[in-house]
Amino acid sequence: MKHFRSIDETGADSVLRLLDLADHMAEVNRRPNPKVPALRGKTVCNVFFEDSTRTRLSFETAAKRLSADTMTFSVGTSSVKKGESLRDTIETIAAMGVDAFVIRHGSSGVPWQAAQWTNASIINAGDGWHSHPTQALLDCYTIRSALNRTTGFDGLRIAIVGDVKHSRVARSDIRAFGLLGADVTLVAPRTLLPPSVDVPVVAELDEVIDDIDVLYLLRMQRERMTESLVPSLREYTTRFGLTPERASRLPEHALIMHPGPMNRGVEMAVDPSELPGAVITQQVTNGIAVRMAVLFELLGSGGGLGSGNDLESEG
Ligand code: CP
Repeated sequence: MKHFRSIDETGADSVLRLLDLADHMAEVNRRPNPKVPALRGKTVCNVFFEDSTRTRLSFETAAKRLSADTMTFSVGTSSVKKGESLRDTIETIAAMGVDAFVIRHGSSGVPWQAAQWTNASIINAGDGWHSHPTQALLDCYTIRSALNRTTGFDGLRIAIVGDVKHSRVARSDIRAFGLLGADVTLVAPRTLLPPSVDVPVVAELDEVIDDIDVLYLLRMQRERMTESLVPSLREYTTRFGLTPERASRLPEHALIMHPGPMNRGVEMAVDPSELPGAVITQQVTNGIAVRMAVLFELLGSGGGLGSGNDLESEG
């Protein structure tokens, strides 16, 4: 695998291999010294044109735990402010010697464009409304770990709730959960759905809340909305928010997930720290292992663990 840009491009076999590899990385992360020499001599550059807390910091942590060198490009203090183009920015950084770019950009398709301008591997850390494949991978890993579903998601009922229209997380999760065999239902008002979807849709959270294994709440992306798509946030919460009453109706084993950052009081109208099924902090923790797996797959010994002592702790 040269790039990691979308779940569709990656395919089911590679997704499953990455999830297995993430198990090895999670084991590394539990060690007292969670650092291995696997990517010594490699350089990973984070290029974020949009804000991020989880994705940027977990990629940085993942690269460091694998002993890669890291570079961080901050658009606000870069020559982009003087008008430098995206292409010139990528080619300039590539000229310094970079093995992988981790790119987040507000425009869909930028990871594919960037791959034409450099020989380095490209990892998509979120492009516009299109794709956020490492989020989907960490979401699959979290479900698999929490519900002990190592062989796939056959029969698993997952409801993805909220602003699907603007959500690259939803698009990648629908593909990834579907590849693993889950039954995905979208729960949203028509105004927050894309023009076409290929999974079932219901218009009220109350229609599914009693009978799901995973409740995946999406963030209301107010910064991407150019028009009023819901009458009010209060009404949105009434129909689609996780309220204490709805939380009490979820099956006992059900997981509650959110990609972050959360709008408390909107889609999350209950304190998730009080819900035993909430795995939102586990999602963040698992993001490091999953991103280590992606970096190792692209830059390490070809995804195999048999060459040398790549995952042996440093002495
Ligand atoms: N889930 C997610 O992508 O979060 P950040 O925007 O903080 O990276």
